Amino acid sequence: MMLTGVCIVKHKNTQLHASSISEPQQFWSQAATAVDWLSPWDKVLDDSEAPFYHWFKGAKINSCYNAVDRHVEAGRGQQIAIQYVSPVTDTEYGISYAELQAQVSRLAGYMDSIGVKKGDRVVIYMPMVPETAYAMLACARIGAIHSVVFGGFAANELATRINDAKPKLILSASCGIEPSGVVAYKPLLDNALEQASHRVEHCLILNRSQLEASLQVGRDVDWQTGVATAPNMDCVPLEATDPLYILYTSGTTGQPKGVVRDNGGHSVALAWSMKHIYDIEAGDSFWAASDVGWVVGHSYIVYGPLLVGATTLMYEGKPIGTPDPGAFWRTIAKYNVKSFFTAPTAIRAIKRDDPDGQYLKGVDLSCLKNVFLAGERCDPDTLHWAEQKLNKPVIDHWWQTETGWPVAANLMGYAPVEVKAGSPALAVPGYQIEVVDVMGEQVAANESGNVVIKLPLPPGTLTTLWQNEQRYVDSYLSMYPGYYLTGDAGYKDDDGYLYIMSRIDDIINVAGHRLSTGRFEEVLCQHDAVAEAAVIGVEDELKGQVPLGLVVLKKGVTLDEQELNKQLMGLVRKEIGPVAAFRLVSAVQKLPKTRSGKILRGTMRNIADNKKYNVPATIEDPATLDIVRNTLTRMGYADAHV
Ligand code: COA
Ligand code: AMP
Repeated sequence: MMLTGVCIVKHKNTQLHASSISEPQQFWSQAATAVDWLSPWDKVLDDSEAPFYHWFKGAKINSCYNAVDRHVEAGRGQQIAIQYVSPVTDTEYGISYAELQAQVSRLAGYMDSIGVKKGDRVVIYMPMVPETAYAMLACARIGAIHSVVFGGFAANELATRINDAKPKLILSASCGIEPSGVVAYKPLLDNALEQASHRVEHCLILNRSQLEASLQVGRDVDWQTGVATAPNMDCVPLEATDPLYILYTSGTTGQPKGVVRDNGGHSVALAWSMKHIYDIEAGDSFWAASDVGWVVGHSYIVYGPLLVGATTLMYEGKPIGTPDPGAFWRTIAKYNVKSFFTAPTAIRAIKRDDPDGQYLKGVDLSCLKNVFLAGERCDPDTLHWAEQKLNKPVIDHWWQTETGWPVAANLMGYAPVEVKAGSPALAVPGYQIEVVDVMGEQVAANESGNVVIKLPLPPGTLTTLWQNEQRYVDSYLSMYPGYYLTGDAGYKDDDGYLYIMSRIDDIINVAGHRLSTGRFEEVLCQHDAVAEAAVIGVEDELKGQVPLGLVVLKKGVTLDEQELNKQLMGLVRKEIGPVAAFRLVSAVQKLPKTRSGKILRGTMRNIADNKKYNVPATIEDPATLDIVRNTLTRMGYADAHV
């Protein structure tokens, strides 16, 4: 559809993009005026260590100062910084910028008092409560590097991240609240700490009224008690290139990748994106309905809106069932939200439960200007449904944990262009996106290929993987020298609009959550009865994709099928966490493989989703495809007649 009420100014957009590519130093030094610096940079872009690039090298900055203190100093102290909305606990309150400054400086003081210093890591394993934002900002204040772990991950996943980040301190809470009930976090943390080889000296535990956590003397401190007597701590000067945080994300192996983000480039890029993409400035209300454990939460619940002095909503609830599919719309109206960001899966959930938009009746959404969707491919049906029911521009945009902010989007605060369903629109300034074939040659318009970004990546993107530069190079930079490999496949149309269609690796996207099929397979193979396992992502109407596992059993296993499946589902839940949503598994006699032993996961996925596929010439045993097809049909997937 054409955007109503806005002019179509593609050339303005193209010009801005072109200037960001031809004059990156000028473009980003201009953008950098939106944040406050303690001392200027020597160089906007240091490429002396390419392919490692450093933005704003030599400059000093503090991200917490930019997100909190400077707004108080500018007279915004009484404005709400964080509006907490928790339908699952029936609690709503606002935290002003002045209050946020007080909370964060005291928590930073506590951290400092127990010896947490610049460069130390702090793991944050917490639910969607304001204290989680305080924790991130307190780390930023003293230069400690935070690493937030999503609450839906199991103890084992937390232990893996603890071993990699080696934190001095962990901040956690007694529980999270899910629609299914209270989820005790502390036993998960205790279990993770037992499993981890790295010894953690200090844990600060937020006791929520729903559940009291038991504390281990000498290691654990109650949050309120800890901060009660802590001194206020000022922001410390940091190098623009110092790491601000590590965020682990799924890679193709079971070992997650620790994406590292710096302070200077990150602040500049997020501030730029708030205005130009999301059309948000100081005083506006912005809501990203995600979780702080994901990159969307880092960039657009915490840092982005606070960096520009906006009000950010922090929502502890779901799109449906807390209590109904009207919760999002009422919250937008009540808190005057101007731009709203969620995942397509959340819209699909609302559409499923309220197809006619009954819950929109009587809700005044005049405050709402734009709805942004990301995290997974947005199918045109979902986009059109939201456009029609909300009567607002619905903007798909594409990015990933690694980039930290949008790569392709419609610049709603600068020059909105025509919306084309199924496309996240055009390359954002700073990103030079190309679609290439296996040889690295650009493909023609409308032809599919690997989506790559020409180096250098703009400010705010990953600088490396935590203590694993080689993996950073191997995973992203080595396939096409001079380019960053996004891991996504897609095409550009005749107008240069990008379409992201699938992953080229073994990553699946379940309800906007990125998971590695390799990790599922590792876990399934831990079961005594399993000789081999293959996990694929199959299409799902609500979650986009769900994992489906096929296992080959060891000889002589006599376990009842139902019992085995129950055990395998339980194992995945225990090892990866409830977020894995693993509910489809079956035993097969044999898996389809090439003669060199590579499992044909792509072919299996096409069979499951009723897509065309070629039988690879290198297949070891063509009969295995029939075995798999019959099994998938029995599981409600592959249509036997295709
Ligand atoms: N802590 C503990 N457990 C969590 C959790 C958390 N922070 N987040 C999710 N879980 C659990 C859920 O309770 C659920 O457990 P269950 O199997 O016992 O019911 C499981 O993980 C799966 O949760 P979820 O992915 O939320 O699926 P759902 O079926 O409960 O709800 C949707 C479906 C579509 C409503 C939900 O996935 C949703 O809101 N998605 C939006 C996704 C999103 O914002 N993504 C961020 C990227 S932008
Ligand atoms: P994450 O790192 O968890 O944010 O997941 C990033 C991945 O999600 C991308 O590499 C894509 O595969 C997918 N993704 C995110 N946003 C979109 C989008 N708008 N369209 C298509 N795929 C998307």
